Amino acid sequence: MANPSLLILAGDGIGPEVMDEVKKVIGWYGDKRGLAFDVSEDLVGGCAYDAHGTPLTDETMEKAQQVDAVLLGAVGGPKYDVLDFSVKPERGLLRLRKEMDLFANLRPAQCFDALADFSSLKKDIVAGLDIMIIRELTSGVYFGEPRGIFTEGNERVGINTQRYTESEIARVARSAFELARKRSNKVCSMEKANVMESGVLWREVVTKVHAEEYADVELSHMYADNGAMQLVRNPKQFDVIVTDNLFGDLLSDAAAMLTGSLGMLPSASLGLPMANGRPKALYEPVHGSAPDIAGTGKANPIACILSFAMALRYSFDKGDEATRLEDAIEKVLADGLRTADLLGPEGGSPISTSEMGDAILAALDASL
Ligand code: IPM
Ligand code: MG
Repeated sequence: MANPSLLILAGDGIGPEVMDEVKKVIGWYGDKRGLAFDVSEDLVGGCAYDAHGTPLTDETMEKAQQVDAVLLGAVGGPKYDVLDFSVKPERGLLRLRKEMDLFANLRPAQCFDALADFSSLKKDIVAGLDIMIIRELTSGVYFGEPRGIFTEGNERVGINTQRYTESEIARVARSAFELARKRSNKVCSMEKANVMESGVLWREVVTKVHAEEYADVELSHMYADNGAMQLVRNPKQFDVIVTDNLFGDLLSDAAAMLTGSLGMLPSASLGLPMANGRPKALYEPVHGSAPDIAGTGKANPIACILSFAMALRYSFDKGDEATRLEDAIEKVLADGLRTADLLGPEGGSPISTSEMGDAILAALDASL
């Protein structure tokens, strides 16, 4: 049987540096675990714009549709701020999400024991935190029409449209309930049904899918603003949170910060199953391209490596190997190794991006 295929789109800023460490880990699985992947690479974001005048070419889009999983680094940078909206680096990422129909975005917020002190919240509020935000990723106000800046009378008006169909809500709700069954069997759905019709429909559809197909799962509803408050007040009350595209963008950043470092958080964006049964999938760290530290060797590769762990689990059905990788990272942190972003106020000496990658490989070796 052919090896599973991966398309690496390292992107801009620190993307290529952190992806180099992921490539080492992929190599390790090929050498030591007999898990070989066919890896190809291409451009996305600003670097694609520089080379081709577009943040994602049709050829790259086509490749992304063909592979078993896409691994993405990060896109964007100040150099591209002046570009027209239609060719900004972020458009490349949004096109991948939309055309691959990656409607379920899994964003875990997990607090590593060794890092609990870095949270801006008190340690006892975040220690052991392990929640999963499922953000709808292909609809809502990010894509709704009409959108644009129009002229009305003697002034301009900026318009975006929040729009959700019943089927779009139902499918992401199902993803949340399915995942909850593998975790603590608890889902909290967030919208603003108090002010938005799309929120009223969201709540209705989630409630219906729950009653008809997932009555065994505990379901609660929360207004998203209250949800934001509850996330910082008592985050451990949550397990799986399901919400729309824009609320999910905001809530997942807030949840990420609870864990102490954005440099630690992976994500998976999943779509419908392909002919081989694997879901369409793209894996990427939650952090951005961090142009201020690009090229300095300071970037933390852990979020990107953990995104590969999610690929092992969700695309390749290798949950045990994913756990091996997560444990190796936990061990490296417990040993006190830190990239610059993980040094607290008391300082210490950081290791570089590639030293962190090497330390994780050593811990993987030790796991055999
Ligand atoms: C994210 C980012 C993106 C988003 C940007 C880069 C388009 O903030 O993945 O959360 O808003 O979805
Ligand atoms: Mg965001």
